[in-house]
Amino acid sequence: MNAEKSPDSRIVKHAVLGDMPAQKEVTIYFEGKPLKALEGEPIMATLVAAGVTVFRYTKKGSPRRMFCGIGRCTDCVMTVDGVPGVRTCVTEVREGMRVERQQGVGSWKVQAEASHAQ
Ligand code: FES
Repeated sequence: MNAEKSPDSRIVKHAVLGDMPAQKEVTIYFEGKPLKALEGEPIMATLVAAGVTVFRYTKKGSPRRMFCGIGRCTDCVMTVDGVPGVRTCVTEVREGMRVERQQGVGSWKVQAEASHAQ
């Protein structure tokens, strides 16, 4: 198959689909590192374009990569904005999103808002 790729390995021209349309860029943070993302793409697409291959670790420490890619397994779950267990293959990026690998089922890192603390 003939496809032209950008430096970050995204397909920019496809043999059948032609030129990929321009998309707005947003920034997400993977374990604190800023990454360029394309609005509307799944978190996993951004991470793969950035060279990330391990998305989580089991509770025994085994690495997990993409498996189904359609939201049916749990191999891509990560902690997103403090919420563990988010399936990154079917969750769209948002500006400023913070994504971290998790071990096992992960843990919540969301702080209670002041109105809920009383
Ligand atoms: S890779 Fe299976 S749910 Fe995401």
